[in-house]
Amino acid sequence: MKDYNFDKNIDRISTHSTKWLKFDNPEILPMWIADMDFASPPEVIQAIKKRADLGIFGYTELPPDLTPLLQDRILKHSGWEIDPEWVTWMPGVVVGLNVACRTILSLGDMVVTPSPIYAPFVYAPDNMNRGILRTSLLNNKGRLELDYASIESLINKDTKMFFFCNPHNPGGTLFEESEIKKLVDICVEKEIIICADEIHSDLVLDVERKHIHLAQTSKSAANNSITLVSPTKTFNMQGLPCGAAIIPNDEIRKEFRRNMRGISAHISIFSYIGAEAAYKYGEPWHKALIEYLRGNKEYLANEINDIEGISLYGPEATYLAWIDCSSSGLDNPADFFINAGVGVHDGKWFGNKDFVRLNFGCPRSILEEAVSRIKKAFSQRN
Ligand SMILES: Cc1ncc(COP(=O)(O)O)c(C=O)c1O
Repeated sequence: MKDYNFDKNIDRISTHSTKWLKFDNPEILPMWIADMDFASPPEVIQAIKKRADLGIFGYTELPPDLTPLLQDRILKHSGWEIDPEWVTWMPGVVVGLNVACRTILSLGDMVVTPSPIYAPFVYAPDNMNRGILRTSLLNNKGRLELDYASIESLINKDTKMFFFCNPHNPGGTLFEESEIKKLVDICVEKEIIICADEIHSDLVLDVERKHIHLAQTSKSAANNSITLVSPTKTFNMQGLPCGAAIIPNDEIRKEFRRNMRGISAHISIFSYIGAEAAYKYGEPWHKALIEYLRGNKEYLANEINDIEGISLYGPEATYLAWIDCSSSGLDNPADFFINAGVGVHDGKWFGNKDFVRLNFGCPRSILEEAVSRIKKAFSQRN
């Protein structure tokens, strides 16, 4: 395996990085939004440089090998055989969440989504004045799990879609096949479509597990779902927006495409080039990344769980640590961490103010500094 330097600190402030511009105080380590402080695979960088050197940036079509590359990747990683015809490329997965709402929901219709959840799941139906109902995830010893009884009770005649996030953001749960099947059974019986955001599916940290796509679990799962995936989290290219909606159902796919028309922007040349190079050549980098993230997670989990009053949930996947501060006695855990110099994401944004989400996709030295600040702040509490 090639050596990749995930330990390298790269200055991102000068790049107008959303992550690094968030806090006015430069002493605060930004550990909130889901992008990592690592350079993308070298092959991605080279491909983009080569394309930039041409100097012409006109309208650009989908590279013909991008869909087959995605098809291959999904087959290799999860064993799901997709038909290239099912794939629709979009400039980002949040676009997909919003287009799914336009496609499935009429006026008065509603979505059910687990809570806590990545906030755009809530904004998407709201953007078009559609309702959202939240089903609280159950805490099973630090693993967030679906509450099937609550899901069943929330679904009524106006509920038309379930927003599923697997792996789950912020909790980091990688749902088992049996869990997914149970959810599918309920949704199929109640005739509601599942929109499965699987953007974090390449970031499985549990050594012996792999991601299972909801749509691969049965024919009815495939026929009643919209699956959203993307290379951007995997290869740390969030500034090169690109995602794919995989929709086996012809009718839903046709409507989905119709709803994108004229609204969804072009996918940028560099998004295409980056995605293509990442899928073609990025696997050794991705493997090394997962090893590095596993090390970071283990280190963080040991340290956090050692601090009285706080504990880490999972994560079984993602580089996002959902930290339970409900026994800490803190009124505002996010402020406490930020005052300690650790720029976490406030749990309130996901639906639970007693938690913070800490992004550990960063060089170990930054994570160690963050841990030392957190420990110091907790030890100095009175
Ligand atoms: C679950 C989930 N979906 C979507 C996104 C964002 O996707 P995009 O940048 O492709 O719109 C994120 C980013 O954090 C995410 O966690």
